[in-house]
Amino acid sequence: MKIPEQLIEEIRHRSDIVEVIGETVRLKPQGKSFVGLCPFHADKKPSMNVNPQMGIFKCFSCGKGGNVITYVMDFHKLSFIDALSQLAARAGIVLPEENTEEDQEKYKRHEEIRIVLEAAQRYYHSLLGQNEAQIARSYISKRGFSQEIVTQFGIGYSPDEWRRLSDEMMKQGFSETLLEEAGLIIKREDNMIYDRFRGRLMFPIQDPSGRIIGFGARQLSEAKDQPKYINSPETVVYNKSQVLYGIFQAKNAIRNLGTAILTEGYADTITLHQFGFTNAIATSGTALTRNQLQLLSRYCKQINIAYDGDAAGQNATLKGLELALEEGFEVKIMSFPQGDDPDSFIRSRGSDALRSLILSAVPFLDFRVDILKSDGTFNDPPRMAQAIRDLIDLIVRIPDMMQHDLLLQRLWDKLRLSELQLQRMYDEYKNRLQVRRGVQAKYAAQKQSYSDTDKQSSSSEISLKVTNADEQLFPEERELLRLSFLN
Ligand code: UTP
Ligand code: MN
Repeated sequence: MKIPEQLIEEIRHRSDIVEVIGETVRLKPQGKSFVGLCPFHADKKPSMNVNPQMGIFKCFSCGKGGNVITYVMDFHKLSFIDALSQLAARAGIVLPEENTEEDQEKYKRHEEIRIVLEAAQRYYHSLLGQNEAQIARSYISKRGFSQEIVTQFGIGYSPDEWRRLSDEMMKQGFSETLLEEAGLIIKREDNMIYDRFRGRLMFPIQDPSGRIIGFGARQLSEAKDQPKYINSPETVVYNKSQVLYGIFQAKNAIRNLGTAILTEGYADTITLHQFGFTNAIATSGTALTRNQLQLLSRYCKQINIAYDGDAAGQNATLKGLELALEEGFEVKIMSFPQGDDPDSFIRSRGSDALRSLILSAVPFLDFRVDILKSDGTFNDPPRMAQAIRDLIDLIVRIPDMMQHDLLLQRLWDKLRLSELQLQRMYDEYKNRLQVRRGVQAKYAAQKQSYSDTDKQSSSSEISLKVTNADEQLFPEERELLRLSFLN
């Protein structure tokens, strides 16, 4: 298979070397680079240096070095093509397979969509400097967004006209079909087209490598008959449940600090960045999904939840946070005063106040118990019994078994149970753990059968199957698999 030079560059550029190497050996930040034990010789002290700016690694002890592609080749003992397809898969790039025109078409299409989105972003951003954008500029200054933050996040303005963007994009040579596939225009039944985003402040949504995949668009006046935000529809490059807003701007800070601040939206994320909390990201108005968590787990294992008070306790939200525990994250809840969100809080009280909110953030399990206390569950024995079972279930799903005893201990301290209740609770825990192990064994068997089929397929299919099997694994199994690669 012949892969175009340009595509190889694209894959290299979009594969984060710290992320890729960090999945095989533990890396620690050191200045602008990272260091870790070199996997290519018996390394005693961390002699391997990984430089994300230059996209290279180098071992100062054994001399081994290279880029992200050669690392994957050497570490996993793969051919150039196989290493490339592995990296392409994780970057969401479709490789043109040998002779299949269809795949080549698909790759080209995705690329065209990204290009038109980038052109649209440039246009929206340039309009912000024009006279006509007065309304947007005064909104920006009213909200207190700085010039730097506007530039860093690529914020723009869509004028309140029906075809302003479409006309410009077509003038630049983009087709109507492409604009529609990118989610930028809407086609009526009579085939008339018009711009999706009109009269709004435009927040580009970027993937972790900085490519633009969609937009969030906020109204500029509080017109009640219109939605406050309009977002890009699902397209081949934009899947809401896989996106973390701000991840491109935040990923280095998240990696260095080992923790992320998770907010509910665009404005909160941007304001936190402006005030120096550059590890802030957002799910855009939805509960956390497994896909988002798996993306985030490339960078950190801890999350501080910065939702406004009422939102954090809602069912959908709680489910998302439980998923986070299951994925092995340590989750803490920051509690904002009634009526405040991170944006309004930090503007009225300042950075130090936010810093203390972070320090006093409550572990998720404690937060759950507090909710049960305050909503009266504790005064109702049947509901309380069920609640305790749910909490035990939650603990059982935490991959790090070492934490279980500590968490159980904390739970019964908080619940102030009797000896007998305590014993029952522990039995319940052991039962559930056993059930859980049964489920895991089943998945492990499934994994085995996946790898059996792999042996019979061609190498390019293997990487695909491994990815599939990987999705079926529990985090602890993934960790084991990872460790077994290390030996
Ligand atoms: P919020 O209403 O809390 O918005 O919705 P916000 O980010 O604080 O916005 P400002 O401060 O009023 O500008 C949280 C998130 O939910 C999504 C957006 O992603 C928003 O950032 N949302 C909200 C929508 O998608 N559509 C809406 O109509 C409202
Ligand atoms: Mn807000």
